[in-house]
Amino acid sequence: MQLKPFLLDMWLDNYEHDIEFNLAASTGPTWTVNALLNLAGEEERQRFLNHELVYGRVAGADGLREAIAEMHGVSAECVQIVTGASEALVVLMWLAAEPGANVILPRPGFATFSALPESLGIETRFYGIRKENNFSIDVEEIKKLADARTKLVLLNSPHHPTGATVSDAEMESLHEFTSGRGIQLVNDEVYHPIYHGRETKSASRLPHATVIHDFSKAFSLPGVRTGWMIEHDRKRRERYWNARAYFSVSNNTAGEMLAEIAMRKRDIVLQRTQEVASRNLERLDGFMAEHREIVNWIRPRGGMTAFPWLVHSENARPFCQAAAERGILLAPGDCFEVPSHFRLGFAASGEEFPRALDRLGEFVKSWPAKMVNGVTV
Ligand SMILES: Cc1ncc(COP(=O)(O)O)c(C=O)c1O
Repeated sequence: MQLKPFLLDMWLDNYEHDIEFNLAASTGPTWTVNALLNLAGEEERQRFLNHELVYGRVAGADGLREAIAEMHGVSAECVQIVTGASEALVVLMWLAAEPGANVILPRPGFATFSALPESLGIETRFYGIRKENNFSIDVEEIKKLADARTKLVLLNSPHHPTGATVSDAEMESLHEFTSGRGIQLVNDEVYHPIYHGRETKSASRLPHATVIHDFSKAFSLPGVRTGWMIEHDRKRRERYWNARAYFSVSNNTAGEMLAEIAMRKRDIVLQRTQEVASRNLERLDGFMAEHREIVNWIRPRGGMTAFPWLVHSENARPFCQAAAERGILLAPGDCFEVPSHFRLGFAASGEEFPRALDRLGEFVKSWPAKMVNGVTV
């Protein structure tokens, strides 16, 4: 079994720990354990400090499942807790791995989407999130990719890295199509409910859809390493429970407790992310208008990442490398198999964002306007 190199994490790991301005991160404003416990009050703080470090339940802590169920308007039994959305993807792809099976995925997309099925010998079929189509999906393209061997269609809305969203009508059309054919429809909605304009609903309202979500992105608590799945189908849930019992047994109990606090105080936690993301996106509007001769973009409709492209070059890696030398970290588009683009995270650097954009602006102005294969012409 071969897992392809995780180019994005290799890039981030190389630079992230020693960079002045991190515009590559895909999360939002950070939290300390202390700040989160302050949201909860003294009794909860004491409960947290004195809880025993034992195994948790395979399906997840009851209180956490109830709080998540309340957010989605489903019953708590529909909630399976996992170690981040990453584990949800492992569970889903593992269970889809039957001889001759195929899965339908977005391109560009989070690298794990394709790396897992490829390594498991599942055929991967890709639908485009193309700038020529304003980063919108083409529902008919997805339907045409499906056949009797299709196990799963994966949507990712709001989409990482473009920030595009799938409309409620598109999601419903795909739900009808897939459920009629016994294909599992999954929405990775780790950026829900962070929107910039039209808001879309969680796929948890759809009876045959599977949702994967986490505390890493919209909640901006990646350190709790906690995610969840919403599944209405009891048989599928039993399979997830079983897989999870093998893969990781349960979450770490401290992470689950902090996650439960964040979920119960989600008005505050999500509002903080939304405010920072909205404010910084407005600043990014001005930046993009000013530098449109060199970089262009489609404004994200959700989430905390944008996926601009270089107007005069097919390869943004030299641009990202030179930016990193000036203290600004971006992520090259080749990590998402679209080399002319780069990913820019606009919510993680918080109040530092204006200074980061100033520095990036100086760099962009100094960048040769036209490069061919890394050579100025
Ligand atoms: C779209 C998407 N799904 C899932 C994940 C996995 O996140 P985690 O394991 O932190 O929940 C990520 C992380 O970058 C992501 O971008």
